[in-house]
Amino acid sequence: MNKKFAIILILFMIVTFVSSFPTTFEKRQTGNQISSNSKFTYYWVEFESDYKSTKTVNILTCDGVKITTVNLDFANAMKIEGTGVTKDGRVLNLGDCDCSSSSYDCFEELNKTKFPFGSTANDTPLVPFITVAANDIRKGTLLYIPKLDGIILPNSKVHNGCVKVDDKGFEFGKKHIDWFVAKKSNYDTLTKKNTFTSVSVFNGTSPNGQKCSLLNYT
Ligand SMILES: *[C@@H]1O[C@H](CO)[C@@H](O)[C@H](O)[C@H]1NC(C)=O
Ligand SMILES: *[C@@H]1O[C@H](CO)[C@@H](O)[C@H](O)[C@H]1NC(C)=O
Repeated sequence: MNKKFAIILILFMIVTFVSSFPTTFEKRQTGNQISSNSKFTYYWVEFESDYKSTKTVNILTCDGVKITTVNLDFANAMKIEGTGVTKDGRVLNLGDCDCSSSSYDCFEELNKTKFPFGSTANDTPLVPFITVAANDIRKGTLLYIPKLDGIILPNSKVHNGCVKVDDKGFEFGKKHIDWFVAKKSNYDTLTKKNTFTSVSVFNGTSPNGQKCSLLNYT
């Protein structure tokens, strides 16, 4: 009786041990899972080229120095969103002062070579289709998001599912991934085809040191 029990126990241990082997890519990924169900949203910056009205307004620094003249609707949208790219590629950001409802003397100009799409909360460049904001994952973490793998972007490039945590979301909490897609029209195109609002999230650096590669989508 005791012997039988011992044999069953040993068999059970062997089966458990073998089934813990990462036999497939899927299983290896599961060991690396950060979340099985995170909320998924999109964000972007304002582009003057998306605004058609003919009214213009001067944009000034907090010290009252004129930076440039832009479309009025674009200026109002920048006051809400915080960042905008002008028709001539200048990158404007809200400065360290308050904007009153009727004034536009509250901006700063970013270095457009370094920040062509504006800046993250970490003062690093926002990178289209790569940067994500998350509040409960360490900045710099590479993530693999299966639902993004294979998605065709508006410029016809194919995403490989790899993104990088490099921003914070001030309007949301934990278990939430906010994906930077550069401009509103990209959001419109992407959400016409892809309607998911939650994703599973994996650590893009696998235990054996393999890294998810970040591609260039611009
Ligand atoms: C803008 O950024 C680029 C790239 O980082 C740098 O080489 C250049 O010196 C910067 N220009 C100014 C005016 O700071
Ligand atoms: C991701 O995996 C790497 C390698 O195993 C590890 O060093 C890192 O802490 C992990 N990051 C997170 C956020 O789980």
